[in-house]
Amino acid sequence: MDYLPIFVDIKNQPCLIVGGGAVAARKADLFIKAGASVTVIAPELKIEMKHHLEHGLISWNPATFSASILEGGEKPKYVISATDDQAVNQAVYHYCQAHQIPVNVADQTEYCDFILPAIVNRSPVTIAISTGGRSPILARLMKARLEALIPAGFGSLAGLLGRYRKQVKQSLPTPDARKAFWENLLQSAFVDKAAQGRTEEAECILKVQLKQVETTGQPMPTGEVYLIGAGPGDPDLMTFKGLRLLQQADVVLYDRLVAPEIVEMARREAERIYVGKKDKYHAVPQGDICQLMVTLAQQGKRVARLKGGDPYIFGRGAEEAEVLVEHNIPFEVVPGITAAAGCSAYAGFPLTHREFSQSVTLITGHQQAGENEVDYGRLAHSGDTMVFYMGVKNAQKIQQGLMQHGLSAQTPAAIIEKGTTAKQRVIITTLGELYSTIKSSQIKPPALLVVGEVINVRERLVK
Ligand SMILES: C[S@@+](CC[C@H](N)C(=O)[O-])C[C@H]1O[C@@H](n2cnc3c(N)ncnc32)[C@H](O)[C@@H]1O
Repeated sequence: MDYLPIFVDIKNQPCLIVGGGAVAARKADLFIKAGASVTVIAPELKIEMKHHLEHGLISWNPATFSASILEGGEKPKYVISATDDQAVNQAVYHYCQAHQIPVNVADQTEYCDFILPAIVNRSPVTIAISTGGRSPILARLMKARLEALIPAGFGSLAGLLGRYRKQVKQSLPTPDARKAFWENLLQSAFVDKAAQGRTEEAECILKVQLKQVETTGQPMPTGEVYLIGAGPGDPDLMTFKGLRLLQQADVVLYDRLVAPEIVEMARREAERIYVGKKDKYHAVPQGDICQLMVTLAQQGKRVARLKGGDPYIFGRGAEEAEVLVEHNIPFEVVPGITAAAGCSAYAGFPLTHREFSQSVTLITGHQQAGENEVDYGRLAHSGDTMVFYMGVKNAQKIQQGLMQHGLSAQTPAAIIEKGTTAKQRVIITTLGELYSTIKSSQIKPPALLVVGEVINVRERLVK
């Protein structure tokens, strides 16, 4: 290890920045965030540093650095020099060496007693990344990856944990009991509630679990279910939150439309259960899937229920959620990119556009017995972009329904098969030709049918 990573408390400590440019301002920003009392020595300030000055975050000594400026006054605890003038940087360095003040000269590791890492800031959680000054760009890339992995709300989570630390210590005197309690809590729904700022709900979980360990000596089984939208096909369209919860699941239930790459992203030891169509005709009954989720969660397992697209858009997610509520099983719903959004973007046209359409309707083209029929009359006169899910089998009915209510046969229509995947097919046609195009092109599900003038925008966007 080239450097010892330590976190230093510099609140209200005098710290000095030499230089008034953009780099100096970025360094000053770190001192400011850590609560230091920052002085800047520079003959002039560029816009970024002026911003700090105008907000009262720094004091400014409008001079070129010389050792005499610091004589007599309180010595700074840490100094950063970030000027274009090598002579000034050298002077700062030598002054600090002579007075044993840790110094950092920007971009010159040979003149640094300390270096500033790339930081992922979820204060009070802070992650520092250093390449020992060898490649700040690599450190920044790693930072970007970590930024994506660590939820924004982890600061609030840490804050809440800190507030209960003393109470837990009093309630659970042995380190083993505390360890078991915290480990269990941090793998439960508590984490997401706290990170989302749903503090009361998070505190409630914490208190129930604490009571459980106090009275039984055992942590509560943390069975819960995550209803995760896995997006329309391209595995990269999964959300960060979906991925994080998937990776903490013990069991993964997935169906036909979920990309195999996403199922692969679960932990290696997680059990994977396919609950999609068993063959061409027989789907696992919805009731059996719900029962399986309940049974697994009641065994204390964390269950990721992966669904194509978004769980709440033609995904029966709400039915599953209702069953979980009935059985008092904690659950999280993670929205996904629905097929309409993903497929239209990948096919090269928007769903709304100021010139063509101000609204979108998502419609199921496949009604179950007892469900309301589609109101083609309303749709035909709405001006909406219409997106039909599960519409391939009923394409003729859709086409006739809209045309009988006056929608022009010339209205643009798009058929998107296996949208967002490497096998995506996009066929642009008209409403009048929709059914015959589906037949002649042998379109197979999953496919989306889109009807509306907005499809014309594709000509401008796809060359
Ligand atoms: C049961 S619905 C599920 C919808 C999903 N919950 C969503 O939000 O996208 C299945 C229908 O979604 C559409 N669909 C899903 N993924 C698709 C894809 N990659 N390409 C085209 N259509 C897709 C098809 O119409 C398919 O029949």
